Amino acid sequence: MEKELFQFSQKQVQVLFDATFNLVNELSGGKKLIFITDQNLFNLHEEKFKGYQTIIIPAGEANKNQATVNQVINELIAIGADRKSFIVGVGGGVVTDLAGFVASIFMRGISFGFVPTSILAMVDAAVGGKNGIDVGGFKNMVGVIRHPEFLLYDYQFLKTLPEEEWRSGFAEIIKHACIKDRGLFTFLQNKKLSDFQNEHKLIADLVKQNVLIKYKVVSEDENENGERQLLNFGHTIGHAIEHECTLMHGYAISIGMVAATEISEKIDGINDNRIVLVKELLKKYGLPTTSNFDREKAWNIMLADKKKSGGYLNFIVLDEIGKASVKQLALPKLHTYLTELSLS
Ligand SMILES: NC(=O)c1ccc[n+]([C@@H]2O[C@H](COP(=O)([O-])OP(=O)(O)OC[C@H]3O[C@@H](n4cnc5c(N)ncnc54)[C@H](O)[C@@H]3O)[C@@H](O)[C@H]2O)c1
Ligand SMILES: [Zn+2]
Repeated sequence: MEKELFQFSQKQVQVLFDATFNLVNELSGGKKLIFITDQNLFNLHEEKFKGYQTIIIPAGEANKNQATVNQVINELIAIGADRKSFIVGVGGGVVTDLAGFVASIFMRGISFGFVPTSILAMVDAAVGGKNGIDVGGFKNMVGVIRHPEFLLYDYQFLKTLPEEEWRSGFAEIIKHACIKDRGLFTFLQNKKLSDFQNEHKLIADLVKQNVLIKYKVVSEDENENGERQLLNFGHTIGHAIEHECTLMHGYAISIGMVAATEISEKIDGINDNRIVLVKELLKKYGLPTTSNFDREKAWNIMLADKKKSGGYLNFIVLDEIGKASVKQLALPKLHTYLTELSLS
């Protein structure tokens, strides 16, 4: 087990890498522990929840909404939760986003911690303090920024993670490599997914490295005025595709990164092999790189995106492998780029 302390302006977060699940008791500091998990996790890991109050939510993005928040709050009231209760979200990004949100609003906010169980939640969703829910199909439209007391990484959970969820999570890992770490990009080029699935140390090191990348970006720009926006690489178009085609998050982001790289090459006019390298790496990890999504529908979804300001949208361009920047794009220009995308 390796312990780190992440310092944010609001809070210090204890981060336990390569730890075991039963440490949650100690980490919740003697408070009344209440687990929130989803039905899949509960079915697969029921023994871990034995003897604890556990609230089970239906699995999947479609349930990251107000109806589930109401269900959880009603159950919290029914089991007599109070300000001395401690919520622990055990699951993928849907569980951690929703558990963190409920913990932040229940009784004006009670303590919480996360045990992320999907690759995506481990390297991305659980890190950085953003919690929230979707509204009417618009992703993360309502939420708060509030950090958990702790993050606990127990890689045993990954033994039951379905193959497609591994791939989806690797989209965010590849995103980190693209925007911040050329060395990581090269490392991933020389490995394959099954290497990480079969070797504990490889996945443990990779998860930790990616958590540290996200922590560094977030801690330098907690309110998303600059650097943190880089994490949206592939997400502007990716979110629109996710919404329109109901694809898994990582799959949509994969296509979004290809689109953003193609647009980056158009903007700077340099035809190096960025797009080829990004596509090849995504393909190597079983991620999609083409799509015939409806451009106009996607455009309308993008217009409703909360990252838009005035007649501009902050678009993340990939300057080179390992380096990205924020570019203000006039909406008509972006519309043209979107309609001209080849994505083949
Ligand atoms: N807060 C943030 O900063 C942030 C960042 C990125 C993504 N997100 C959010 O994260 C969500 C996506 O996360 P996700 O892909 O983990 O989704 P998810 O929570 O839906 O999990 C994916 C699927 O894998 C299952 N699963 C998770 N861990 C498992 C395990 N160990 N064994 C077996 N099955 C397991 C889940 O039950 C679910 O069916 C989206 O809602 C996205 O908006 C949030
Ligand atoms: Zn993402």
